[in-house]
Amino acid sequence: MKNILVTGGAGFIGSNFIKYILDHDPNVNIVNLDLLTYAGNLENLVDISDESRYTFKKGDIRDRVLVNQLFNEYDFCSIINFAAESHVDRSIVEPDIFLSTNVIGVQVLLDTAMSHWKTEPHNKYSKEYRKSVKFIQISTDEVYGTLGKSGMFSEKTPLAPNNPYSASKASADLVVRAYYKTYGMPVNITRCSNNYGPYQFPEKLIPLMIANCQEEKPLPVYGDGMQIRDWLHVSDHCAAIMCVLEKGQAGEVYNIGGNNEYTNIDIVRMIVKELGKSESLIKYVKDRPGHDRRYAMDSSKIKSELGWKPSYTFEKGLSETINWYITHKNWLDRVRSGEYMEYYEKMYGTVNV
Ligand code: NAD
Ligand code: DAU
Repeated sequence: MKNILVTGGAGFIGSNFIKYILDHDPNVNIVNLDLLTYAGNLENLVDISDESRYTFKKGDIRDRVLVNQLFNEYDFCSIINFAAESHVDRSIVEPDIFLSTNVIGVQVLLDTAMSHWKTEPHNKYSKEYRKSVKFIQISTDEVYGTLGKSGMFSEKTPLAPNNPYSASKASADLVVRAYYKTYGMPVNITRCSNNYGPYQFPEKLIPLMIANCQEEKPLPVYGDGMQIRDWLHVSDHCAAIMCVLEKGQAGEVYNIGGNNEYTNIDIVRMIVKELGKSESLIKYVKDRPGHDRRYAMDSSKIKSELGWKPSYTFEKGLSETINWYITHKNWLDRVRSGEYMEYYEKMYGTVNV
């Protein structure tokens, strides 16, 4: 059995990933370290709470003592780091926590893994060792900044983040790269485009619009709504991370995308149509500062080198996702109580038309 540390596994992608890997690999034990911030929710994992190959630990990736204790106890062969502050709008209002968790937290994980995986300081990892241990940093397409009307982000595109969230993720990527170059630490960085699917916190575009639309509340579209995102179903992202875990070459970056480019306003219109509501719910509101205009990922490297390909079409994935939120209204209601209400009021108020 391989012991794997998954951090941030109570959030949207992490919780989907834990269930995915337990389903697809009988030889893994997963320890999930999550601080349970507003975005972490153990309800996302309730269906595996009795699974003997799964353990939850509440805690902070910045806590060196705790991370070290976990390494002593479980002797992890891999870390997959999902833990992060992940919402761009929040990073614009409160950047500090983004730099702290997304950069310092990553350094703590790297240092601790390095001290356990290496026997002698400054001794490069042997080839065999590199095969058996791995640090995967879950990064984002946002580190590349923004695109014009044409072109795509490749792994060679220079990093040019435009908001505090993406700057913190880009900084972490550079630290991870440095640990590979300096210490030979076996790392991979995955950079994925926008995910959608079950258990996404309803501050993000798709679940927010589904939730508001169902209740016939205003649908706040930033600026002219013509910004483009490249959407990928979360289970296709999980499959890509599994490919990188099993076959990724040490030190490599892998871009992951769905090749599903849509403007925000088109996404909102699709949701309105599927739910049979009126487009009069759509309200154009003040634009996000530093708003990236277009993202598009070139995923040819992970496809050709690791054999990954997405299985969802966007039409099927969106329709299933809408249905999931409709049939999980209790989940939505619970995550939208408390802190969420304060956040929503602060961000949108009565929706500034
Ligand atoms: P999320 O906000 O839903 O979940 C983040 C999780 O991290 C939460 O469970 C939270 O409790 C936990 N966490 C936060 N700070 C922590 C800390 N200090 N210690 C331990 N746990 C902590 O985020 P998500 O959408 O699932 O994204 C997961 C990762 O994937 C992030 O690193 C994000 O940058 C990246 N990513 C997200 C997307 C997307 O579309 N959502 C796309 C590409 C990459
Ligand atoms: O591209 C990957 C990134 O995707 C991840 O790294 C981030 O963690 C994740 O949050 C997501 O970032 P975005 O900023 O692209 O996602 P968000 O859902 O916040 O917004 C998607 C687009 O929709 C963006 O152009 C802003 C717009 N938007 C968003 C909200 C919440 C609106 O027009 N109205 C809204 O109310």
